[in-house]
Formats: sequence, structure tokens, C-alpha cells
Amino acid sequence: MTKIITADNLDEAAQCIANGGTVVFPTETVYGLGADALNDEAVRSIFAAKGRPADNPLIVHIANREDVYKLTSKVSEDAEMLMDRFFPGPLTLIMAKAPCVGGVVTAGLDTVAIRMPSNPIAHELIEKSGCFIAAPSANLSGSPSPTVARHVIDDMDGRVDYIIDGGTSQVGLESTVVDVSGDIPEILRPGKITYEELREVVPGIVINKGILQETEKPKSPGMKYKHYSPKADVTVVMGSKDNIQKFIKSRITDKVGVLTYKGGTYDGAFVINAGNNMEEYANGLFYNLRLFDENGVDTVYAEFADEGGIGLAVKNRLFKSAGHKAVNADNINL
Ligand code: TXA
Ligand code: MG
Repeated sequence: MTKIITADNLDEAAQCIANGGTVVFPTETVYGLGADALNDEAVRSIFAAKGRPADNPLIVHIANREDVYKLTSKVSEDAEMLMDRFFPGPLTLIMAKAPCVGGVVTAGLDTVAIRMPSNPIAHELIEKSGCFIAAPSANLSGSPSPTVARHVIDDMDGRVDYIIDGGTSQVGLESTVVDVSGDIPEILRPGKITYEELREVVPGIVINKGILQETEKPKSPGMKYKHYSPKADVTVVMGSKDNIQKFIKSRITDKVGVLTYKGGTYDGAFVINAGNNMEEYANGLFYNLRLFDENGVDTVYAEFADEGGIGLAVKNRLFKSAGHKAVNADNINL
């Protein structure tokens, strides 16, 4: 039985974590499915609840900066500077792990992913549990990450001990993942903290090639799996606004959904407006993908434009949800 609670009741959820149970909690990015990171059995129950492949490692969430030194064996100067600027917040750092970190949470790697969330409920839960909390996004493996408690309940009711309803996630996309275990910091997953912001702190930072294309051997194990997919079939549509609209209009049937960007009307389709800037697009993306499914849509056309900043993270998630199916409407004769 899953107990659904609010932040007023954190004590029992914290106790549950300390006892080896599973608790879904809000963070500023998306909801996380947490358990004691140093308890292998507890961590295994996260993989079981999500149906997550065992070779995809989890992020360890901490409440205090000092905890970084308990979980890692080497912290580079770049890592220190990134933490100074972005902890707590939506940034995950990959560092060499300390011996106390087991092989289940790291999926056998010699590195560990660490994040210090800024969401006060997440912070308090970690503090009160007295544990470091391993937590992936709280969706069934392959589905869009949940950004409201209702979507957590859809996926996780009956599979976890507690769900804490903390309202809507502020960011809407998962944290930026940066590998600082080698000589050159590398962005493995784009997120709210952008390449442009990271470059101000560590000018040599590079972007992993797998972010915008499918690669054979990704550095972040999670990148090789099907991700963020609603049941509907998604196609990304780019090009001039005029051509995008002509292309999509030529394909409307009663089961077509359209994710418009900066407005647009599509008679006969189920239309959701992604917003007027990439922050808004990011904030609603996962929520909107699930909304199409809830409304019986079987084909989604998503308008998109390359605008940098958090747009890189939007592009990464959107292209994955589409299985990299994209068209440039400027190149199509209608
Ligand atoms: O915002 C977030 O990061 C959310 C909230 C709950 O904190 N969590 C999240 O976790 O998105 P998850 O498991 O859905 O994604 C973690 C990503 C995966 O792609 C995983 O492969 C990668 O981080 N990762 C974890 N440990 C790693 C490691 N040691 N080396 C490389 N990649 C790692
Ligand atoms: Mg995830």
C-alpha cells in the first residue's frame, strides 16, 4: 500500500527511508523515487519499482556540501567551483566514488553522481532521514518524468511506500549532469543550468556528443535507453513558422495532437501551447506529453526552434521522446 502525504508529515517518510523503504519526494527539477543510498537492498527496490535496468546508475542526493567528501575519493578544483556557484540546485556532478558507496547505486562504475537539491521538502527529508538518498526520476522506466503528484501516482501507486505531494516542479526537466571525474569537465545531460552558465565557471567544459544524437556507447549509461516517451508517436517539426504550420495542417486527423510554440491554431487537432520561451517549454514538456496520452491522442507533432540556453535540454528530451524523428518543414514540398 502506498501512503500519499504532504510535507506536514515528513517524519514518517524520513523514518521509512531510514528503515530501508521507498519514498517519492518533490525536487525543484522533477519528482524523485528515493531510498537509502548506502543500503543495497533499499536501492534494489528503486530499480524494481521503476523497472529500471540494473546497469543505469542513480544520483545520490545530499543535504549538506560536506557530505560530498564522505561519498567521493577525489574532488577536483573545477568541481569545487561548480559547487560554489550551483549547489544547492539542479546540477549533478559525477566524481570518483568513495569505498562506502556500493556497486548497486553506481551500477558497478567507479564514479558516483551527486546532487544537492534546493527544494526545501527534499532538503528536509534528507536531513530528517539521516541518510544520503539515491533517487532517479519517479516515473516507470521509459516514461516522461513526473512533475506533479498525480503523474507520480499514475506510475507508482502500489510500487512505493510513500508519495509526498509537493505541488508542481519548478523546473520541469531533470538536472544538468556534469562529469568532473576526468581532466576536462563534460556535460553528459543538459538541464536547467545551461552550457553558457557552466562555461562562465569552467571555460573548458565540453558537451558530450551523445546529447543530440543516438550513440553506440554513451558515457552516461542512461542515455542509451528509450526515454521520455508518451504512448503517442511524436515527431519534432522545425523550420519557418509558416512552413511548420502548413506541414502539420496537412497531417491533421482526429487523433493528432499538436504542441505549438509561441502560439498557432490547428482546427481539428488537440492543441497544447508549449509556451512563449524555452523556459516555459521546459517547464511543461513532460506534463504536456502525458496530457496528450490522457486525451487519446496517438500522433503528436511538436513545433520546435533552436534557441540555445535551456533550449538544449528541451531539444535533448524532445528528440528522445520522438525517438529522434524530426522533419525540417522548409525542406518539404507541400
Ligand atoms: O533532476 C534530477 O536529476 C532527478 C531528480 C530526482 O534529482 N533525477 C534524475 O535521475 O533525473 P535519473 O536516474 O532519472 O537520471 C540520472 C542520470 C542517468 O542518465 C544516469 O545514467 C546518469 O544520471 N548517471 C548516474 N550516475 C552516473 C555515473 N556515475 N556516471 C555517468 N552517469 C551517471
Ligand atoms: Mg529519469
